Amino acid sequence: MDVDDLLSEAGRQALAAAGTITDAHRHPLRAAEHLRAQGIAPALAAAALTQAELRRKAVTKFGADAAVMLFTRAGLEQATRAAVATRRARRLAVAGVTSVADLGCGIGADTIAFARAGLRVRAVDADPTTARIAQANAAALGLPADVTHGDAVTTDLTGVDAVFCDPARRTKGGQRVFDPRAYEPPWDFVAALPARVPRTVLKLAPGIDHDLLPEHAEGEWVSIDGDLVEAAAWCGPLAETPRRATLISTATPAVHELTGTGGEQAPVDRPKRFLHDPDAAVIRAHLVAEFAGTIGGTLADPTIAYTYTDEPATTPFARTYEVLEHLPVALKRLRAALRDLDAGPLTILKRGSALDVEELRKSLKLTGGSPATIALTRIGRAPAVLLLRTAAGPAAAAG
Ligand SMILES: C[S@@+](CC[C@H](N)C(=O)[O-])C[C@H]1O[C@@H](n2cnc3c(N)ncnc32)[C@H](O)[C@@H]1O
Repeated sequence: MDVDDLLSEAGRQALAAAGTITDAHRHPLRAAEHLRAQGIAPALAAAALTQAELRRKAVTKFGADAAVMLFTRAGLEQATRAAVATRRARRLAVAGVTSVADLGCGIGADTIAFARAGLRVRAVDADPTTARIAQANAAALGLPADVTHGDAVTTDLTGVDAVFCDPARRTKGGQRVFDPRAYEPPWDFVAALPARVPRTVLKLAPGIDHDLLPEHAEGEWVSIDGDLVEAAAWCGPLAETPRRATLISTATPAVHELTGTGGEQAPVDRPKRFLHDPDAAVIRAHLVAEFAGTIGGTLADPTIAYTYTDEPATTPFARTYEVLEHLPVALKRLRAALRDLDAGPLTILKRGSALDVEELRKSLKLTGGSPATIALTRIGRAPAVLLLRTAAGPAAAAG
């Protein structure tokens, strides 16, 4: 697709027409016919329909901005959600950063947030179409940004206060590769950035090994409504704490942060009446001990994140359940116990158990009418099955 065709007057009209396509025309062939009937050239109609589809998908990441932005499919998938990009940009501004280089800017989600926070942005992307889109997106939102097509590796960093780099992760057979050596720009270049510009922020895959974070960097793990979305390394003077978990809730809306060393061990004790299942950001940031400290909780096994309290505790950092019963572990007896409860739709949580959740669900063959929640876990060395009732939490577990 030629981005400039979409930005021409004919392109604008095609985008506007594609945006008004109703459900009745959403079948690709009917939608294309509908646009062609309005005199729009076939190639432009196809490109505009793709954009209309991507804009609809992009609303969850970009809200109302999506309606004026352009995307590539990969660019949208890799783009930072606006809620995260905005927080990052504000944090840089508060830290006194006034200019930033965005290396590998994609369709410009972070570029836009930096510009909105008042930072001067020098953005670069190795893919010409993507770079053109980032440029067009900033312009469509009325934001100044210097976006060019180029290689991050040879981009001049003189004069910028800070660097942001969100490397692409190559995929193998559609699967994201977690090995940082698969990063583009290459990991060696990315890891050396803090030595060149101390105020560097790296956006990394949430599965990143803590050992790969640059020395003395703050590792931040971010979740939105319980979904872990990214990790970031805040380097040099930008590091405020060794580890941080940032939980963004869109419903309230609210943000909750937990900080700590990432190396503490929570006390271990018997399981208690309330089980708290920490948010993935807390677990990945290695802040379970700090979390347990906030509610006076203990673990039943030092390696399992379920945190227990005798008294109910309301916390934004976990989903909380009341433990109603310890059920038998053996399949036949477990099935009998769940049938006695008339259990049907079953939510199965699992930490520290090797059991396959779907296999178990099939083997249990429950046909009752009452929804039930169980946790497969371990208490010390012994496997355990706990019958739970949702007590509280940022979001109730889905059935
Ligand atoms: C994960 S995406 C960035 C997404 C962006 N932060 C956003 O939120 O929209 C990574 C981008 O890096 C670009 N890239 C990969 N290698 C590069 C290089 N050597 N120089 C510049 N850009 C590169 C890719 O084309 C891709 O668009």
